Amino acid sequence: MAARERLICTSAALADGGDGVRFEVARHGACEPAFAVRYCGRVYAYLNRCAHVPVELDWELGRFFDLTGHYLICAAHGAHYDVRDGRCAMGPCKGARLQAVEVFERDGAVFVREEA
Ligand code: FES
Repeated sequence: MAARERLICTSAALADGGDGVRFEVARHGACEPAFAVRYCGRVYAYLNRCAHVPVELDWELGRFFDLTGHYLICAAHGAHYDVRDGRCAMGPCKGARLQAVEVFERDGAVFVREEA
């Protein structure tokens, strides 16, 4: 399947362990809500859909990290996800995963790679 690259935000918009950037990604012929965050210097992105019940994760728009700044947390029932692989480490869907979205940085910007 053909893929295209699309700008999400500047690299500076994603502070390490800070607020995420929400965006939409083309997947299976539809537009899906997604988000990107930075953790330990690297950008990670996932569909904005909890593995427990398919609701968006952020407890305020763009707020995905728990208070420690080490886990992504679902506002609905508190599932904690490992930022690095999207695996639920604690909560009602322990062991399930968020769906990763392919992103990369180039020339001070963050891009998503999605279906053309
Ligand atoms: S909907 Fe996310 S933990 Fe229940």
